[in-house]
Amino acid sequence: MAPLLSIRDLHKSFGRKEVLSGIDLDLDEGESLVVIGGSGTGKSVLLRCILGLETPDRGEILYKGAPLAGANRAAFLDGFGMLFQNAALFDSLPIWKNVAFRLLKTRSRADARAIALEKLARVGLGPEVADLMPAELSGDAQRAGLARAIAADPAVIFFDEPTTGLDPIRAARINALIRGIVEETGATAITITHDMTSVRTIADRVALLDRGCVRWQGALAEMDGARDDYLHDFIEGRWRE
Ligand SMILES: Nc1ncnc2c1ncn2[C@@H]1O[C@H](COP(=O)(O)OP(=O)(O)O)[C@@H](O)[C@H]1O
Ligand SMILES: [Mg+2]
Repeated sequence: MAPLLSIRDLHKSFGRKEVLSGIDLDLDEGESLVVIGGSGTGKSVLLRCILGLETPDRGEILYKGAPLAGANRAAFLDGFGMLFQNAALFDSLPIWKNVAFRLLKTRSRADARAIALEKLARVGLGPEVADLMPAELSGDAQRAGLARAIAADPAVIFFDEPTTGLDPIRAARINALIRGIVEETGATAITITHDMTSVRTIADRVALLDRGCVRWQGALAEMDGARDDYLHDFIEGRWRE
């Protein structure tokens, strides 16, 4: 069976700066891939290329064996959810409308609100937050963002730095929620992070980006025994002068 998503020789430069220099990655259906790599290595650019928000200079992205373009991209986006870095909620909409944002286009207001409340409950937020504005939710915006990501029961979910900026307890809760949701829904997931706790909680498979390429990839269980000095520096938070 073809992988759900295949990335082949993906290149992307901004001006003279080459960010992606030939990325090759496959993602099987139901798999949870975590992409790690230093700040500025092109992790978000990679996601943006898959979403069609950036146009690659070279290479291809396949969804179910066909180029991710036109009707195939529409099919992909239809079953897709995303948790953005720092949640990126709409400031001017109450929490429930943030969560139900896409549902409101196709469902009645009452149905959309009911689903929003159900998804908020799934991430541990009670009905009392539904009518709050994002600014009133302080430390729990990321959980509301997670509820929004899963509102339409997506088959594919991207998480961009889901724990960045959170305290350790909130980060642990987000990691556990992501793992639980991915397992119970069978969704295919790509998570981008430099938080090794996220890697160990969320990943089936890990890919390390370095200088625009996938430097190492393998099952989570293989990571600690891998022979790659940079991977170990990354895992253990070491630097070399
Ligand atoms: N639209 C853009 N224009 C110019 N440079 C960009 C743009 N988007 C990203 N970059 C550059 O590409 C590099 C990778 O960015 P990014 O993918 O956001 O890194 P990260 O791995 O931290 O997510 C950075 O050096 C960034 O400055
Ligand atoms: Mg990023």
